[in-house]
Amino acid sequence: METLKSARKGDSGEAGSDLSEQIKAATKENHIRAENTQLMLSYQKGQITLQQYKVLLCSLYEIYKALEEELDRNSSHPAVAPIYFPQELARLESLENDLEYFFGQDWEKRVVVPAATQRYKQRLRKIGQEKPELLVAHAYTRYLGDLSGGQVLGKITQKSLGLSSKEGLSFFSFPGVSSPNRFKQLYRSRMNSVELTEEEKAAVLEEAVEAFELNIQVFDDLQKMLSIAAETDQSKSGVGAARFAASP
Ligand code: HEM
Repeated sequence: METLKSARKGDSGEAGSDLSEQIKAATKENHIRAENTQLMLSYQKGQITLQQYKVLLCSLYEIYKALEEELDRNSSHPAVAPIYFPQELARLESLENDLEYFFGQDWEKRVVVPAATQRYKQRLRKIGQEKPELLVAHAYTRYLGDLSGGQVLGKITQKSLGLSSKEGLSFFSFPGVSSPNRFKQLYRSRMNSVELTEEEKAAVLEEAVEAFELNIQVFDDLQKMLSIAAETDQSKSGVGAARFAASP
């Protein structure tokens, strides 16, 4: 529960010594940048297309697969155990269900991701193997985001894609979390209970900034991938065909 002291600190915009406050302060600018990527802006305007959502799901699948496998493998590590909540948070199965819904049974063969997603995955694998205490930064960035703005994005997705049921949207739903706000409080207190040296804490803060940056790069790469696909489509059908027909 937030104490009066931490509420006051929050009000004045200063971060106290708790990891949860410091990580939020350290990534504030990056959060603003993430919200303002083209992909997230179209999202907020309710302009997400089915094609955008499908490629986003593919990248989220690869990211959560790496994140959750590394969390599972390190679940008894002292810096991971307090923030290990597979029952409440795990997204991999939901993503598999959503991918099957949109791509069909052979979805696995149809997962396509850009270079930035590969880099994000590799980073997760590397820290899972070499510095598991940094996993907290990645788990925070994704899961607390999913439980915050992500909840609104779920509703927007349903509306934008004109889906009548929750099918294809399990990524956004957390049946094991009855109150996202209360759960976030619990998660923050668990983060604050992780014992870290000053050096490790600084590295976690730096890694959280990196985690946001990796997400931003994924969104930017997806946007590029989609505009190239749109151009190719156009040259295949309209513009390109006309030029071809006109040549001698
Ligand atoms: C928190 C909105 C994108 C990560 C929040 C909060 C909102 C929000 C309203 C709650 C703030 C609070 O309780 O003080 C949005 C919107 C987004 C977006 C509208 C895009 C359309 C992202 C992305 C990430 C992210 C892309 C990271 C990948 C987080 C995290 C928190 C958060 C980690 C928890 C902050 C904390 O309490 O420590 N977001 N967000 N968000 N968001 Fe986002």
